[in-house]
Amino acid sequence: MRVLGIETSCDETAAAIYEEGRGLLAHALHSQVDIHVDYGGVVPELASRDHIRKLLPLVSEVLSRAGLEPADVDGIAYTAGPGLQGALLVGASVARSLAYALGVPAVAVHHMEGHLLAPMLETPAPSFPFVALLVSGGHTMLVLVRGVGRYELLGETRDDAVGEAFDKTAKLLGLPYPGGAALAALAARGRTGRFQFPRPLLDQPGVDFSFSGLKTAVLYAARAVPDDEQTRADLARAFEEAVVDTLAAKALRALELTGVDRLVVAGGVGANRSLRERLVVEAAAHGAAVYFPRPAFCTDNAAMIAYAGALRLAAGEADEPVIRARARWPLASLTAPSSVAEDAAEAR
Ligand code: KG4
Ligand code: ZN
Repeated sequence: MRVLGIETSCDETAAAIYEEGRGLLAHALHSQVDIHVDYGGVVPELASRDHIRKLLPLVSEVLSRAGLEPADVDGIAYTAGPGLQGALLVGASVARSLAYALGVPAVAVHHMEGHLLAPMLETPAPSFPFVALLVSGGHTMLVLVRGVGRYELLGETRDDAVGEAFDKTAKLLGLPYPGGAALAALAARGRTGRFQFPRPLLDQPGVDFSFSGLKTAVLYAARAVPDDEQTRADLARAFEEAVVDTLAAKALRALELTGVDRLVVAGGVGANRSLRERLVVEAAAHGAAVYFPRPAFCTDNAAMIAYAGALRLAAGEADEPVIRARARWPLASLTAPSSVAEDAAEAR
C-alpha cells in the first residue's frame, strides 16, 4: 500500500509518500513563515490561500521524487483536524478530490496522532505501550499509548501550550514569529542563575501543566532590569530551563504512574535541543528509553500523516467521500483501526 500524505493544518504545506514495507519514499514541505512574519502570528485567511497555491505543486514534487505517477497511489491520508478550519479544508478538498479521481480510498488523520506516531518512522522505533509527551504550538499533553488509536490522556495544559509559551515569550524578548527556535538559540548564549522562574504545578500531584504564568514572570523580570542583549539571553535561558525542568519532571512522573519504560517526545517543541538532551539523561537514570523523531519530523510535516494514514488504510479504514474538517477534535476520542494495524506497527 502506497500512501500519499497531505498536511495543511496550520502554516506549513506538506506532502509525502509512504509505502508499507519500504518506508518513506519522499517528503516535501513549504513553510509560510515569510507570509505571516510581519503580522507576528499566523493569519488564517492568508494561510488558506497559500495552501491552495502550494499543495498541488508539492504533491507533484513528491510523486516525481519517488519516481511515481498519480496512478501508483493506493490511498490518501490527509490532516482533517485539529487546526485552522480554512487551512484544513484545503487539504481535505484536494485529498478527497484526488482520491475520487484516482478511485482510491482516503482517510482523515488526526494531526496529533501524526505527531504521536512520527517516532515510528525512525530506527529503532518504539514499541507499544509508551508514554508520549506531545509538545506543539497548540497542545501540551502526556498520553499513554497502548496501540494505534488507543490513547489515554494522562495530563494536559490548563492554559497555554508550551510552544505558545515559547512563541509569546520570544515575542516579548523582541524575536520574530515563530519564536520557539529563535528563543532556544538566544538561550544558548544566556547565563544560568541570573533569573529564576517558577516550575508551574510541580509541587502538585498529577501530570497537568500550566505555562501562562511563566510568560508573565518573564515579562515582569524583563521590566525590572535594563534591556540589553545579554539580559535578553539570560531571560531566555531561565525561561527555557524552567520549561525543560517542568516537562522532564512531568514526563518522568508519567512513566512512574503508568509503569511504562518507553517515552516518546513529539511535536514542534520536541526539536528543542536542551529538552532532548535533558530527557535522554533523565530517562537513562530511570532505566527508561526515550525516542524522538528527527527534528524535521518534530515540527509539522506530511511524513507523519502518510504514516499514520497508511496504518489505518492498511487495516481497511476509509471514510465516506465527504469533504469535512474538524478545527477541534479530542485525541482521546480516536479508536483503534483494527488489530492488523497494531501488528504492522509492532513489526516495524
Ligand atoms: O508541531 P508544530 O510544528 O505545530 C503545531 O502543531 O503546533 O509546533 C510548532 C511549535 C511552535 O510554537 C514553535 O515555536 C515550537 O514548536 N518550536 C520550538 C522549537 N522549534 C519549534 N520550541 C522550542 N525550541 C525549538 N527548537
Ligand atoms: Zn503540529
